[in-house]
Amino acid sequence: MINKPRGTSDVYGRRMEVLDGVIGRVKTILHQANYQEIMTPIFESKELFVRGVGETSDVVSKEMYEFNDKKNRVFVLRPEGTAGVVRAVVEDKMYVLNNLPLKFFYVGSMFRYERPQAGRYRQFNQLGIETFGADNLNQDVEVISLAMEILTSLTLEQNAVIYLNYLVSGEEKKPYLAALVQYLSTFDDLCDDCQVRIQKNPMRTLDCKIDGYKFTNPPSMGDYLSVQDQMRMKELVECLTALNYQVKLDPSLVRGLDYYTGMVFEIKYAADKSQESLTLIGGGRYNNLVQQLGGPSVPAAGFGLGIERLLNLLGEEKPDLFTRRELDLYVIALEFNAQVMQLISTLRASGLVVDFSLLNNTLKTGFNQAKKLQAKEVLILGSQELTSMQAKLKNQATGKEQVIDLNQIEIIKTMIREQNND
Ligand code: HAM
Repeated sequence: MINKPRGTSDVYGRRMEVLDGVIGRVKTILHQANYQEIMTPIFESKELFVRGVGETSDVVSKEMYEFNDKKNRVFVLRPEGTAGVVRAVVEDKMYVLNNLPLKFFYVGSMFRYERPQAGRYRQFNQLGIETFGADNLNQDVEVISLAMEILTSLTLEQNAVIYLNYLVSGEEKKPYLAALVQYLSTFDDLCDDCQVRIQKNPMRTLDCKIDGYKFTNPPSMGDYLSVQDQMRMKELVECLTALNYQVKLDPSLVRGLDYYTGMVFEIKYAADKSQESLTLIGGGRYNNLVQQLGGPSVPAAGFGLGIERLLNLLGEEKPDLFTRRELDLYVIALEFNAQVMQLISTLRASGLVVDFSLLNNTLKTGFNQAKKLQAKEVLILGSQELTSMQAKLKNQATGKEQVIDLNQIEIIKTMIREQNND
């Protein structure tokens, strides 16, 4: 037997049904907010992520699935969605002024070579939004409130907490970094990664998976923010609070990717009983990335939502949020020919969910199968029925039988809907 790779999953049955339901609901919300869907390649050149996400991040330095193609070009399976969308915006020059603001969303698989555990996989699906052109309160609030609207549509908003920070950038970054390096130098037992990061990118040490817990009182970024940024942060918190969201300031929140500038946030589910409550949604502003990847200076912000984490949570908290797909009709075809297939296709085209006997054509096995599949109604088709176009429809719950006219598909549909209170 060949097993699936570690950290991946096969999705089917109820989980697939819920996954479909979640994606459908989220797409509606994002279309209503005038976001357009974008699909970018699953593999991209390695350099995109080295330049975009940052070579000192764990994602780039340790977790990428990398391969050389037949011409020896170095590609990676995408570990996240932002860099690919920015690459597309730059490559197709979508950033021209009369296109802005640009509002995109995507759904797709991402790949990270992480240690698999609950909620942490090597292939996982992300739903993300990326928006370009506006650097103001409006856009910050829209991004976070769309994330919250998604959770609200899944009735998860009550326990969702937004952790928020504002990263020091611009002129103020230098004195902050100096203070941070000074603080980090008071530890003499830091891991090798931290040693490198102190030199190359000191902020990255704060979310180190090994030593991050040690940094309990690093210099607070808030103390180094410009007055303008402090005002922006204050307005953002006020606005989110007025929208009735639970907001907590977290001055050590840096996020695991290097492109962020200014506002960053993570949304966690407070009632998550697991030891380390997992982040459902993470995002923020990345005003330098378009330029870093070869475009002009265009501000941007967005978020990514881990679909599997959401599904795990829904499974525990709201198992019945999405109705199960039901079988309206099971056809026992005692005879099979083109006429039967035509009839079944017409019934399906009318909007009914219809299955029919594939394995064996006896009444007994047909009824057993209909029961197993929880079909609401059973229709029996033999040569006599096909000639007269009159057949018996049996309701599985009540046992009631009715003779129906097989030419009257709409009447059959109405009858089935009414009998089952659909
Ligand atoms: P991220 O925080 O790396 O951000 O990932 C976003 C979300 O993806 C996480 O909050 C989590 O729910 C899910 N996730 C990440 N890694 C895994 C994993 N190994 N297994 C399962 N789920 C996972 C980004 O990727 C950014 N691109 C988000 C963004 C978009 N920022 C701005 N725009």
